[in-house]
Amino acid sequence: MSENVAVRPLLLKPQWMSGLSERLLVSHYVNNYGGALRRLNAIRARLAALDWQRVPVFEINGLKREELVAAGSVILHEICFDSLGGDGDNPPTGLIEPPAGLAQALERDFGSISTWTAEFTAMAKALAGGSGWAILAWSERLGRLVNHWAADHAHNLPAAIPILAIDMYEHAYHLDFGAKAAAYVDQVMANLNWARIGARYRMAIGDGAGEDALFLPFGAPVDEEARISVEELSVALKHDDERRPILLDLCQPRDLPRRTDMLAGASMHAPAALSQWVEELPRDRPIAVYCICGFQVSGTAVTELRQRGYDARALAGGITAWHAIGGATVPLDTSTYEQAT
Ligand SMILES: [Fe+2]
Repeated sequence: MSENVAVRPLLLKPQWMSGLSERLLVSHYVNNYGGALRRLNAIRARLAALDWQRVPVFEINGLKREELVAAGSVILHEICFDSLGGDGDNPPTGLIEPPAGLAQALERDFGSISTWTAEFTAMAKALAGGSGWAILAWSERLGRLVNHWAADHAHNLPAAIPILAIDMYEHAYHLDFGAKAAAYVDQVMANLNWARIGARYRMAIGDGAGEDALFLPFGAPVDEEARISVEELSVALKHDDERRPILLDLCQPRDLPRRTDMLAGASMHAPAALSQWVEELPRDRPIAVYCICGFQVSGTAVTELRQRGYDARALAGGITAWHAIGGATVPLDTSTYEQAT
């Protein structure tokens, strides 16, 4: 048996970015990142079932190559999405310029932050019309930060640790920018979350401690017991007894137009009407609460429900992470929604 690689929730709020649309970011996350993750897990399952003494070498070669490409794609996409959110986030959760330690390292290794920016963005823009990644990485062997080009998902500087990555595959920008890759690069640079990039740098040089909160969706419960992953929920929903969670779909009225589907069996409610719908919930069943991406909407409600004694957990990454693992949904049903709130 192979353990599945778990999806990583979005840390950026796709509806609040500056000049990068929710449609582009969610499509990229669900279809391209999620696609790579699903492919990686399928390949790992195939590898785990191989009879290594008998399998033809071409099959080993093919699967191991595809495993490396899919794993590289998963990891680079996670770094790419984690790096976004700064000035376009609401509320702002990042910094608009590198924190002190990383700023000093960029000045030491490139002369100035503006020189680094010029080199990094030119390198990314040079990939226009092609594909690949623009990566800022810490190399222990070279003793410095390095801007490096990557032609594909499996092309890294050996032993270096990427701390920032810009996706230059056309799927990363075509919906918003057409073929204008340079404009996309400028917009990504304007949305960087330097707090998280700085944290990645500190972790890369062995100086990271207490960075976990930066890598949790803002407003999600900090207590691990108050969260459930999409993989855990997928397993729990297969139970047909009292262990099967009750599903609550919470959505702010202003976000209803962003929704088209829901988890089968969920009931949809307005978070502000909690006092109206809470009494209908059973106290002897686990409750999984989800919203669009797993930020404050489900986080705040779960905190309230747990204070009232319910066994409630917030779905990490929300329905967007559920989509990314290929989870099934049904058309949105708003018949239980408190429209007046
Ligand atoms: Fe991508």
